[in-house]
Amino acid sequence: MATRKILQLGDPALRVVAKAVAANSFAHPTTQNLIDDLIETMRDAQGSGLAATQIGVPLRICVLEVKKNPRYPYKPLIPLTIMINPTWEPIGDETYENIEGCLSVIGLRGRVSRAKEIRITYVDRLGVEQSMSYYGLRAGTVQHEVDHLDGLLFTDRVEDRQTLTTWENFNQYQKEEWLKSLQPMLREESRRSRSAKTPQ
Ligand code: NI
Repeated sequence: MATRKILQLGDPALRVVAKAVAANSFAHPTTQNLIDDLIETMRDAQGSGLAATQIGVPLRICVLEVKKNPRYPYKPLIPLTIMINPTWEPIGDETYENIEGCLSVIGLRGRVSRAKEIRITYVDRLGVEQSMSYYGLRAGTVQHEVDHLDGLLFTDRVEDRQTLTTWENFNQYQKEEWLKSLQPMLREESRRSRSAKTPQ
């Protein structure tokens, strides 16, 4: 396992549309090592997700994990999840306003509209197809990571560029009001997690 360099905004490799991983490559050591490196790099950077394009590998693999994290203590937890060839579709047509940051856009956050509930299908690192639904902030995190595999960054989706903010100014000027506006969704997300017996 190794920590890889995370590419930053402006690097052309972040704009590449990643290729699907062939089924006969899922178990290959190159794929498995890449997954290990993604996990280690994400954890080292204290991120909640990382896509292969962010370390310059144009393959459709991303990893997600939210443990208790000082960068975003309000975020509902996500157990370590490895997604190969993920595709998602919205459940219903509700959206919410997420305020996102990215390990490839250091220092900035901005307001992005995301589907409130999605169903995602992917292959896990053992080669088993998985299908699950995500709601709320977790759904936003998944959409953000799959965007990376299509060469998109959250900054592309910020409609009101006046919402762009440093982390420090987010904490000072936007966080309280934003979290207040999210309370009903966060309560629903928490309720669904408890009933699904997944970690909070
Ligand atoms: Ni990102």
